[in-house]
Amino acid sequence: MNILLIGKTGQLGGSILAEQVSHRVFAPGRSELDIESKESCERAIAGFLPDVVINTAAFHDVPQCEVEPHRAFAVNCQSVRDLALMCKRAGALLVTFSTDYVFGGGQNTPYREEDCPKPLQMYGISRLAGEMAALAAAPEHCVIIRTCGLYGLSGAVSKGGNFVDKRIADAQTNSVLEMGCDQIVSPTYSGDLAQAVLKLIEHPQLTPGIYHLVNEGACTWFEFTKAIYELMGINASVHPVDRRGVSGEMRRPLYSVLANTRARALGIMLPHWRNGLERYLRQKYNSPMKISQKS
Ligand SMILES: NC(=O)c1ccc[n+]([C@@H]2O[C@H](COP(=O)([O-])OP(=O)(O)OC[C@H]3O[C@@H](n4cnc5c(N)ncnc54)[C@H](OP(=O)(O)O)[C@@H]3O)[C@@H](O)[C@H]2O)c1
Repeated sequence: MNILLIGKTGQLGGSILAEQVSHRVFAPGRSELDIESKESCERAIAGFLPDVVINTAAFHDVPQCEVEPHRAFAVNCQSVRDLALMCKRAGALLVTFSTDYVFGGGQNTPYREEDCPKPLQMYGISRLAGEMAALAAAPEHCVIIRTCGLYGLSGAVSKGGNFVDKRIADAQTNSVLEMGCDQIVSPTYSGDLAQAVLKLIEHPQLTPGIYHLVNEGACTWFEFTKAIYELMGINASVHPVDRRGVSGEMRRPLYSVLANTRARALGIMLPHWRNGLERYLRQKYNSPMKISQKS
């Protein structure tokens, strides 16, 4: 399979590049392919003739999307729609990503793919618009994967590092920390997501549409932070704080756990979040004693 991978320097893009072994991959940098430049995308598609275009690029700085909604829509909606149309013309499949933030958080059971979205901020609105625009333009050529709380070896450059690395850095300067206990999420290791994405696109019964892919289980960011410190053997005290999903004027969903219903039906399963976290810490932080004792 010929795969055009967009976003190779990112957490997920880096993991896909590392995990894939049996495909021909072309992974241009942003200077060669910018999803906001139709011309550069068309050139890459015409030159490489991909069977699959995997787009991991996004404008996903959530607070900044409130400040720059036009940019959120340009990157997360218009560019995704344009890529979908290009894939349709080229007879290729577009695999692109979206977020748990398309949901409003009013449920208390995991959201399935067909559950009604109700985004609470510009970021989620622009992602939902991107899903709808791509599926409207090229319904037979799009696979949209919603995921949540990603962390990976390359760190999310656009967010100044991922959640796990930031908490470990926090503990070097503070012995007492506050962490939100209001949002319930499915933190996901990009290595596990990359493997699941590759299984999905290789699956003979893959059909287009929306898929959820997250590590199994659910926790609050407070619980996730406690697990990071416990596995790393870090002796910091973490206190839960309930912000009711509000940061400034922006709201976040209180519950955004995703159910991998469609992937599971194809036999594609992801490990529990704690298992993903253990393997991430072992790989990135070189087997702290506590991790090797536990696994
Ligand atoms: N991180 C999370 O918690 C989370 C949660 C839910 C969903 N997701 C979604 O999962 C996907 C992967 O996320 P991630 O954490 O791997 O992202 P990431 O680490 O921020 O990586 C994004 C990649 O896209 C590239 N990129 C950004 N804008 C681009 C543009 N206009 N044209 C071409 N390339 C561009 C970046 O390149 P540069 O190096 O040049 O910046 C980088 O390689 C995204 O769609 C994201 O929104 C993420």
